[in-house]
Amino acid sequence: MQRPIGVFDSGVGGLTVARAIIDQLPAESITYIGDTANGPYGPRAQDDVRHLALDVLDTLVAQGVKMLVIACNTASAAMFDIARERYETGMGIPIVEVIHPAVRAAVAQSRSGRIGVIGTAGTIGSGAYQRAFAEAGVAHVAAAAAPRFVEFVEAGVTTGDEVLEAAHEYLEPLLAEHPDTLVLGCTHYPLLAGAIGYVAGPDVRLVSSAEETAGDVYRILSDRDLLAPTDAQPSYQFEATTAAQEPFLRLARRFLGPEVTHVEFTQTGVIQLPGRTD
Ligand code: DGL
Repeated sequence: MQRPIGVFDSGVGGLTVARAIIDQLPAESITYIGDTANGPYGPRAQDDVRHLALDVLDTLVAQGVKMLVIACNTASAAMFDIARERYETGMGIPIVEVIHPAVRAAVAQSRSGRIGVIGTAGTIGSGAYQRAFAEAGVAHVAAAAAPRFVEFVEAGVTTGDEVLEAAHEYLEPLLAEHPDTLVLGCTHYPLLAGAIGYVAGPDVRLVSSAEETAGDVYRILSDRDLLAPTDAQPSYQFEATTAAQEPFLRLARRFLGPEVTHVEFTQTGVIQLPGRTD
């Protein structure tokens, strides 16, 4: 089926997931919306995130996507159950998120069963990762919010003393629990994998959800006979909810690569809600 896959994030970070989908499913078209007008979602109240995310997902559905991907940990944590009910059960549109794939990958990698996870304040505060690990039978989970990591990546700063200092601050309490696996539970963190891996040390394996989530997309499209023909010419549409091409375009090329040639402005989700928690 030629219709695009709809991928959504609070901003540019979900492009790490779009990248993995393009790599695993090169014939598939993608419509991506980054809710740049309202992101970052990490500091927002869960209710705000739910409203904003549903608004963007509704827009993707109105654009005729065949599948939805919530490529944002904070949104996945706040509203995946509601979204599954609304789109998959209610409309027959399959939907995937990024938390369970990351948990699955971490469980498969860990030898000691001691796992760490870092994410935004919203993701870690929601307890979504902690619950998913408990359901998977993992007893030793150390979780920490690392909010400044998002700011660094958005500013294009991925090396240097400031990044390393923040990495020490966030990771040291967590490393004291001796995890052998660390989940990068935020779309932005793979761009800091160098600094995070350096501070965590060679005995800690880093796991991010992009490849595993793309694997879920592959499986669902195959199982439901929704794959595009292998010789299809894919098209990529990138939309942001703020009018400015920059800095979305600059960051998007960094996250995804040359497939991002320009960015469309969509009115979607330009809703300012109260409720920041910091
Ligand atoms: N996309 C968000 C996530 O994966 C990070 C940026 C934000 O705070 O919105 O949690």
